[in-house]
Amino acid sequence: MYNKYCTKSKQSSFFWIFSIVLIFAACRTKPTAPPYTIVQSVVEDSCMVVAGQPLASKVGVEILRQGGNAVDAVIATQFALAVVHPRAGNIGGGGFMVVRMADGAADALDYREQAPAAARRDMYLDSTGTVVEQLSKVGHLAVGVPGTVAGMEAAFNKYSQLKDWKALLAPAIKLAAEGYKITQSEADRLNKFKEQFEKYNENAAPFVRKQPWNMGDLLVQKDLARTLTRISDRGAKGFYEGETAGLIVAEMQRGGGLITLEDLKNYRIKWRAPIVSNYKNYKVITMPPSSSGGVALSQMLEMIEPFPIADYGFQSAKAVHVIAEAERRVYADRSKYLGDSDFYPVPIDSLLDSTYLAMRMADFDPAKAAVSDSLSSGNFKRVESFETTHTSIVDSEGNAVSVTTTLNLNYGSKVLVEGGGFFLNDEMDDFSAKPGVPNFFGLIGAEANAIEPGKRMLSSMTPTIVEKDGKLFMVLGAPGGSTIITAVLQTFLNVAEYKMPLDKAVAAPRFHHQWLPDEIKVEPTAIDTLERKKLWDMGHHLHEVKRMALIKAVQVLPDGKLHGAADPRNPDDHAEGF
Ligand code: GLY
Repeated sequence: MYNKYCTKSKQSSFFWIFSIVLIFAACRTKPTAPPYTIVQSVVEDSCMVVAGQPLASKVGVEILRQGGNAVDAVIATQFALAVVHPRAGNIGGGGFMVVRMADGAADALDYREQAPAAARRDMYLDSTGTVVEQLSKVGHLAVGVPGTVAGMEAAFNKYSQLKDWKALLAPAIKLAAEGYKITQSEADRLNKFKEQFEKYNENAAPFVRKQPWNMGDLLVQKDLARTLTRISDRGAKGFYEGETAGLIVAEMQRGGGLITLEDLKNYRIKWRAPIVSNYKNYKVITMPPSSSGGVALSQMLEMIEPFPIADYGFQSAKAVHVIAEAERRVYADRSKYLGDSDFYPVPIDSLLDSTYLAMRMADFDPAKAAVSDSLSSGNFKRVESFETTHTSIVDSEGNAVSVTTTLNLNYGSKVLVEGGGFFLNDEMDDFSAKPGVPNFFGLIGAEANAIEPGKRMLSSMTPTIVEKDGKLFMVLGAPGGSTIITAVLQTFLNVAEYKMPLDKAVAAPRFHHQWLPDEIKVEPTAIDTLERKKLWDMGHHLHEVKRMALIKAVQVLPDGKLHGAADPRNPDDHAEGF
């Protein structure tokens, strides 16, 4: 009897241990297939959305199917990105939107963050006048007053066809409340930043949990769902006033941040005239300050136009030399003259003046690299950061929208609004903390981009729309910090000059010069060995980096169909349409 019982008990224990091991193993096994089908290049008949996360692209497509126009679709996509792409999609950050309606009317919306009223020019300097590097990059003091929700409301009021604000918020609320399966890249980022989330937050749930995140795990964001519901119910007031505003200010006070209820109430978007320039038979419509992107892109195009770069050959030393020398000069101008034009008299007309641009290239030597001014190249981490996100949309009427939005670095300041469920930006690092001292992206600024209360920090975001022979031709933009502008430039040139299909143009390896540091950054497969040697012989310094900027683009093909192309550098980029 005893033996029998003992045998049974052993069998039973074995069964339970075996079951527990199996369950544990099943829980630990990483799913091998991505949770979504990701399409990076597709041609469709009438509508196209290209965004940085497949679920967000699908939300945009769904709004287009419901009869929304491109602006409706981009608003819904932006809110969805705030849920499914928390490292860059946001309600705690800001961005820029370029619109071209089917009748050709173009507009630009600036919903960039503003410095809080208590911000001061020297707020990131210690008593010896040295920049305390981390202060503008992580933690509460790095946060600018967010602009995204005000931006979305302004775009809705001016351009919505659906005229149903709640319908645009509904998909994001559902994704936040019910959860969604995270991608591998999101799992990797959440694991990588766990310590920082814990450092800057008393409670970093739901982004921090005991076990590491895996692809396919469900991320549920109840607090964020409630915040989005308040925005759905009250519009921008559901963010800048009432409970959400209270939560943001409480968070600021918890960590020594500057943003007050007044700052939130006083936040203002700006509708601006886009920068419009011509390159051969193309018209380029792009973003004015407070982004430097549009001015810089237009300057580069005009400087490059006189050179037959197509005859020189794609990424021949001759072509790279011309483009890099234009980039060098333009980034030097950026550092001195570009800033928020509401605070500083940015000489936009002079910078885009043809005589000035010709003069700027007058000392171009076809055989020799110039030398960047040695003002100060400083030291900065060579980190390739892409923690901004871009969406390009064309609807069935031919309306087009190009939107780039950001928290700045991954998950912004890493500060999560307790009870609000969203990350706050660290956009203050895009100001020049001190003349000549580079920011995270190695960009140097001066007076034009010095910190002032209410001012917008200079950006490189370059949401762009291109016409060819008067008709909509291309919609493009990218995340990628300082490399955004040169990535947009090269993608456009790849199509316009090198006649590449859009997906090849987006995928093609890139290079980048930003004046300081005085080097051409090159992706590993950019510029073949022989051409690299010629560039070294001309006096260029080449520095290899893993990757640069993540373009999302739409092209109108000659038969009127739309080609959507996402960037293979980002496994989550997804193009979808119908
Ligand atoms: N935060 C990066 C940019 O705006 O350029």
